Amino acid sequence: MKEFTREKRLRTRSVNGTIALGELITELLIAPKLVVLRGDLGMGKTTLVKGIAAALGAGTADDVTSPTFTLVHEYQGRKVRLIHLDLYRLDTEREVEGLGLWEMAAAPDALVLVEWGDKFNSIMERADAEIAITQGENETERLLHVRWS
Ligand SMILES: Nc1ncnc2c1ncn2[C@@H]1O[C@H](COP(=O)(O)OP(=O)(O)O)[C@@H](O)[C@H]1O
Ligand SMILES: [Mg+2]
Repeated sequence: MKEFTREKRLRTRSVNGTIALGELITELLIAPKLVVLRGDLGMGKTTLVKGIAAALGAGTADDVTSPTFTLVHEYQGRKVRLIHLDLYRLDTEREVEGLGLWEMAAAPDALVLVEWGDKFNSIMERADAEIAITQGENETERLLHVRWS
């Protein structure tokens, strides 16, 4: 597994707060990067991507929807191509190999964000950054732990 040397901890108390944090952390995510988004269902992984997409000029909050069934959504930003995956429905490394993820992540202008990427060793070995979202002290509070190298 790659070692992450830097980290940031952030807190949000609303959906819009999570979108705002997505916009804020985008400056840490210089393409090309493979970023794993971890956290239980409903923690706000997709919501965070909405903020990242907005910051990149890749789409509005409404444009960004969960790629749960299609597995991959792609958005063209001003400079960066945002590639958003959700691997909740995949179970095996063989299925991951079939995605062409390594090729996507090799493109110099690609920022690849992978929900549920932590299910797969092959992805964790190659990840440049990880954003973990956990529940805070109440229903709408979320704690973000961003780690990158
Ligand atoms: N602070 C928050 N940030 C993001 N989502 C929140 C927050 N508080 C409550 N929610 C709710 O949690 C859900 C997050 O959904 P989503 O972003 O799709 O999560 P995930 O992609 O992690 O499954 C939404 O229903 C949203 O209304
Ligand atoms: Mg999601």
